[in-house]
Amino acid sequence: MINIGLLGFGAVGTGVYEIFNEEREKIQKAIGEEFNIKKILVRNLEKRAFFKDFSLLTMDIEDIINDPEIDLIIEVTGDVEEIYPYILKAIRSKKNIITANKALVSKYYEDLLRVARDNKIKFLFDSAVGGTIPILEALKNITIGNEVESVLGVLNGTCNFILSKMEEGLSYDEALEIAKDLGFAEADPSDDVDGHDTLRKLRILSTIAFNESVFEDEISLEGISKISLEDVKNLSKENKRYKLIGRAKKENGKIIASVRPEIVEKTSMVGTLFGGENIIIVKGNNCGEISFKGLGAGPRPTGYSIIGDFLNIYKVDD
Ligand SMILES: NC(=O)c1ccc[n+]([C@@H]2O[C@H](COP(=O)([O-])OP(=O)(O)OC[C@H]3O[C@@H](n4cnc5c(N)ncnc54)[C@H](OP(=O)(O)O)[C@@H]3O)[C@@H](O)[C@H]2O)c1
Repeated sequence: MINIGLLGFGAVGTGVYEIFNEEREKIQKAIGEEFNIKKILVRNLEKRAFFKDFSLLTMDIEDIINDPEIDLIIEVTGDVEEIYPYILKAIRSKKNIITANKALVSKYYEDLLRVARDNKIKFLFDSAVGGTIPILEALKNITIGNEVESVLGVLNGTCNFILSKMEEGLSYDEALEIAKDLGFAEADPSDDVDGHDTLRKLRILSTIAFNESVFEDEISLEGISKISLEDVKNLSKENKRYKLIGRAKKENGKIIASVRPEIVEKTSMVGTLFGGENIIIVKGNNCGEISFKGLGAGPRPTGYSIIGDFLNIYKVDD
């Protein structure tokens, strides 16, 4: 029996919980044993008064971290400073960790991986980059058979959405309001539109791709908030559009990385991305260009990606 402690029960936490239950039979067959979501951390119990498995909920993270029967922590709180020491404690208690928390991974990447390695546990975070796209495990394999030359990503659905709406004639502010109303953008959307969300994902992608640390402050950053409706309209007439692109390449041994709006042909692979879709294009000296495309966010796509990490840890050979 694999016992799971789930930290956070918001959009992604709920998605993971539902997929685990709906696909239980197939997942258990794949891992060759049963699993059990033993405890779930929430911040507010009252909000969950009608949850059918109310007895699983706790507001005390120690209940989960100190439970010797819990083998795996799935962290989907989005918190960084409060949660970080508990993640370290869980790793030192030999619990495997899966997280979708790009802010946490980006900030503490080197320390988290070192402590995980020292404690011989699995620390996986594929859902933190590119939503449903199984990029990080694939990228690790690409780096073994190749020298990676470049990595490019459109990694933020909110920016895609806003720029598409501007092409339809809405101003940046109007498009942003709709994105908020539809739940695409957070109440504070600055992480998305200022490019920080893409920057964190690029920091993780490029660190893996080049097998050396690329820190947040080494990546030049420009978001989409300065793009005018006029710019978008003029480009559209030329069959071009803006996309917020994160890219990193190695030149003369030095890694150059940026996040900024770039002009692309509407008909290009990047130009045809729609709504919440993400794309990641990796170029290696042996494999050439490989493209990965899929839904970049959302409870189910992100939940699915977490199940992918779970299978990467526990799946038994066929
Ligand atoms: N949403 C997506 O599509 C998506 C995609 C990829 C990655 N992610 C990542 O997944 C993580 C979760 O995102 P989300 O959209 O599910 O966020 P969310 O809906 O805001 O859910 C976060 C949950 O964690 C709880 N929480 C936050 N801080 C906590 C703390 N310090 N202690 C205990 N509980 C805490 C919140 O409790 P309350 O409800 O009581 O506040 C909430 O239940 C984030 O790291 C995000 O970057 C999200």
